[in-house]
Amino acid sequence: MTVNISSNLVKAMLDWVELQLGLKISESRYADFEKSLCLAATDAGCATPADFISKFIRGNPSQTEIGILSTYLTIGETYFFRDPLSFSVLVNSVLPEVERQNPEKSIRIWSAGCSTGEEPYSIAISLISKLNDWTVDILASDINPQSLETARKGTYRRWSFREVPMFIQNRYFSLNSEHRYKISDKVKDQVKFFYLNLAQPEPDFPSELNGTKNLDIIFCRNVLIYFSPEQTAEVLYRFYRALKPGGWLFLGPTEIPHPTPNFFSVVNYDGALVLQAKKTRSIEFDHLQVNITKSNYSFFGTGTSVESKTFDTLVQPDESALTASSTSWSSLAIPNFNNNSATNFEESPGSLFNRGEYKRVIDRLFEASQPSSKKSTDEMALIAKSYANLGNLDAAKDWCDQLISLDVVNPRWYYLKATIEQENTQDKEAIQALQQAIFLDPDFIMAHMALANIFKQHGKSNDSLRYYKNASELLQMRDNDEIVPDSDGLTVGQLLNIVRSLSPRGGSK
Ligand SMILES: C[S@@+](CC[C@H](N)C(=O)[O-])C[C@H]1O[C@@H](n2cnc3c(N)ncnc32)[C@H](O)[C@@H]1O
Repeated sequence: MTVNISSNLVKAMLDWVELQLGLKISESRYADFEKSLCLAATDAGCATPADFISKFIRGNPSQTEIGILSTYLTIGETYFFRDPLSFSVLVNSVLPEVERQNPEKSIRIWSAGCSTGEEPYSIAISLISKLNDWTVDILASDINPQSLETARKGTYRRWSFREVPMFIQNRYFSLNSEHRYKISDKVKDQVKFFYLNLAQPEPDFPSELNGTKNLDIIFCRNVLIYFSPEQTAEVLYRFYRALKPGGWLFLGPTEIPHPTPNFFSVVNYDGALVLQAKKTRSIEFDHLQVNITKSNYSFFGTGTSVESKTFDTLVQPDESALTASSTSWSSLAIPNFNNNSATNFEESPGSLFNRGEYKRVIDRLFEASQPSSKKSTDEMALIAKSYANLGNLDAAKDWCDQLISLDVVNPRWYYLKATIEQENTQDKEAIQALQQAIFLDPDFIMAHMALANIFKQHGKSNDSLRYYKNASELLQMRDNDEIVPDSDGLTVGQLLNIVRSLSPRGGSK
């Protein structure tokens, strides 16, 4: 329940949040900010929002209180191998340079703003087969103690693997009795988690005490987009000092520091931009205001798909364990709502979805104050996918069912339903929805693939082979470079390779 908070308290809290957390709340989000304060106050067990706020303004809030507040103000959205191209650049371009520069064979990497740990564990997995005889230190920090607790446990829902081929799950995780995937100790032991507020003034970092000094590589992706320009500039300068001369900083694909601070060079690795600390150490912080521009422009190319996917060069699949990449909500084309709101492109539901701001997608689409029956099917699909991404699978399923009842002959909605059912471990329902999709569109390649994968997981090899064969035959009718519809950017050639490695017989002509 939202309680009105006095405007003075709200203002004081806005200042506190900007100064202490680095988070700049834009005016258009003040109403959301108030709602967040009310929710955070309840979560923290405070009788009123004013009680909660007074902890921040008067004294020293605890890490837990800061964590609760930041949960409501930032987005902890993350998953394994998010933006695979940056991992591929790490392994294929940056690592060889680090190897050349480090005769002592040690490498130090920091994932700053690691949320629940998927990013640092993806780094560890990427390096594991490449740096056998190296000393590898991976540090990972966040402001949210609850996220850090999850990270330390290292147990994940299948949803954390939505962009990851099954062979990675099979190789580095084991399935427990609660259908959760537990990371192997070999990977887990490589990562050290700790609390750190990036906006806190020194001496928190760079510091020898917590290891945030003399680093080879920093990952700070999808964190600075929330920071004020002043805090961004400050944090970038501190990252520069935390890195060895020539060290690398990976930011998120939609985070553009503008202008690029003079202490970093921008290195273009085949279209992927990474910042490299200049080697001259006398460079001073010139107190520039650096903007991280939120847009759909991508560091990794200017295509419409912000997150290009390439696993083939990253971790060599174990052929026997390889299963095709699981379907993902984003794999269904994101409708272009941007035309309707050219004046506020960044706030369009499609852009919010691309940035992972699923709660706001839902708010935005509800704001339109249309009864649900008046929403377009694309809008409803976006709502369903947003709920799925937030882990609210019941709501996702409801929206998907509504979609199907409105547009009963569209195979894509059955495919969406199947992905939700699968996530909910309802494989029988998923199979049924996929069969309906294929009934409506016999050429729906990804539906054949998904069925083949489910049957394979259930040991039904004849059924599995049949659907791989269908997928393979449909693929062979297309050009190798063509993008497979609903596949999240996979090309025909890439998918054919996957089919062949999964099912040598099913993949043949
Ligand atoms: C969207 S997640 C990014 C996770 C991961 N880096 C990725 O790209 O998948 C943003 C994370 O930044 C953290 N964060 C926000 N403000 C922070 C601050 N001032 N200091 C440290 N972490 C912060 C949030 O708690 C959240 O876990």
